[in-house]
Amino acid sequence: MDGTTAIAKDGMTQSKTERKKLMNNLQFIFETEARTAIKRDGLEELLKFLHAETDFYTAPASTKYHGAEESGLVKHSLAVLENFWKVAPCFGYEATESNKESAAIACLFHDLCKANFYKVSYRNVKDDETGTWYKAPYYTVDESLPYGSHGAKSVFLVMSYMLLTAEEAMAIHHHMGAYGKSSYEDCGKAYASSKLAWLAHVADEAAAYVDNT
Ligand SMILES: [Fe+2]
Repeated sequence: MDGTTAIAKDGMTQSKTERKKLMNNLQFIFETEARTAIKRDGLEELLKFLHAETDFYTAPASTKYHGAEESGLVKHSLAVLENFWKVAPCFGYEATESNKESAAIACLFHDLCKANFYKVSYRNVKDDETGTWYKAPYYTVDESLPYGSHGAKSVFLVMSYMLLTAEEAMAIHHHMGAYGKSSYEDCGKAYASSKLAWLAHVADEAAAYVDNT
């Protein structure tokens, strides 16, 4: 990225000032959500890592599918948590302090694997009206930590700073469901044994396919 433009949701570009303001707002909201629900040792170190050593707050959520825009990843992560609590009460997952902490961990951090994962490339595009060619930005994958599956990599990154319960690790690991790299059998067992895991998966799908975030 050249520092002056970025990919916005409508395909247009944003000014550097607009980008910075948006990123700061989203970072504030994300950190507030995390600090409100998560009281576990290591959270501050994890948040510091995300801010200082990754592009988590500016990265897209995908190259061309849901959230393929600057800061799409942090918006997606917040949407997953919001969706989780829209669905959870319908299936008897109570909003206890412990459950709120686990849900926040699973939802906010399920896609840490996508930090330092994308880069902006450019391709030549012809303007239909003027006939002139210009360089249009688009996202490609540029994996910086080829650890393994998305879920496993996210678990590793969170566990590098903060301990997870087995259920939280399972929820993050299996959040992609059939799209992930774990076996159908393992995935089914995880969802059957853990409402947290199933709800995080459903909330993730709703964010991607319903909210397009
Ligand atoms: Fe996701």
